[in-house]
Amino acid sequence: MGICLATTSGKGGTGKSTVSCGLSLAFAKLNKSVLLVDMDEGLRCLDLLLGVDHKVVFDLSDILNGVAIADGTYTLPQNPLISVIPAPRQIGNIQADALSTFAKKVKSLYDVVIFDFPAGLDFSLYSAIGDDAQFLTVCNPDPVSVRDAAAVCASLPQNKNAARLIINRFDAEYIKKKIYSNIDDIIDMSGFRLLGIVPQSSDLMLLSITHNINKKTKAFKALYRIARRLSDYEVRLPKIKKI
Ligand SMILES: Nc1ncnc2c1ncn2[C@@H]1O[C@H](COP(=O)(O)OP(=O)(O)O)[C@@H](O)[C@H]1O
Ligand SMILES: [Mg+2]
Repeated sequence: MGICLATTSGKGGTGKSTVSCGLSLAFAKLNKSVLLVDMDEGLRCLDLLLGVDHKVVFDLSDILNGVAIADGTYTLPQNPLISVIPAPRQIGNIQADALSTFAKKVKSLYDVVIFDFPAGLDFSLYSAIGDDAQFLTVCNPDPVSVRDAAAVCASLPQNKNAARLIINRFDAEYIKKKIYSNIDDIIDMSGFRLLGIVPQSSDLMLLSITHNINKKTKAFKALYRIARRLSDYEVRLPKIKKI
């Protein structure tokens, strides 16, 4: 059975789309085929981050309304294992019933399907992608973001107990200088189990220009550890200063 993931957050701009793209590159390195589904209606960005924006004709709303999945799916020229379905241009075009049928179909076509949701909580769409979906809440180490992650944790329905936390834009210096709480406190405050920590990184910041991540960077290594954990390998967290 494949892996179905959904990236969520309480607050916008925590890095859900960047982490989703990074995870797709990491899963591809594990030789898995990946479909990224952009759920951010009206504010789509995965096509731009991964460099297929100039090819886009159809989007998710077209597929939900009958266009063949293959016709609205854009495979990366730089990585044939990764494909993207862009979000609808206008809001209000993703119906839960149609999404549910679509999710069942694409899970049989790819090793990994990642639904990149917008910030906030949309339970009808969360349920539509299926009970096997693992929810990854992406937060930054600052107190506002951690409090929002805690709110997401408190409001996810019980059956979403596979939900886990990714701390993104981590910078050990801020913790060393005691500006931000230490990792254990962040995890305790959020209420989630930790899945991984992704560092602040210029490689990730420049993804919309490079459409790729250098495999030797700390950021890629962090994403690769997360992809391996999600593939059931046991991967320990490195020492904080090495993240
Ligand atoms: N680990 C990171 N290091 C540096 N910049 C990051 C990192 N993660 C995300 N960003 C930047 O943060 C901004 C928001 O990221 P994005 O993935 O669009 O967030 P979201 O999908 O949660 O709204 C973007 O400018 C992106 O380049
Ligand atoms: Mg996003």
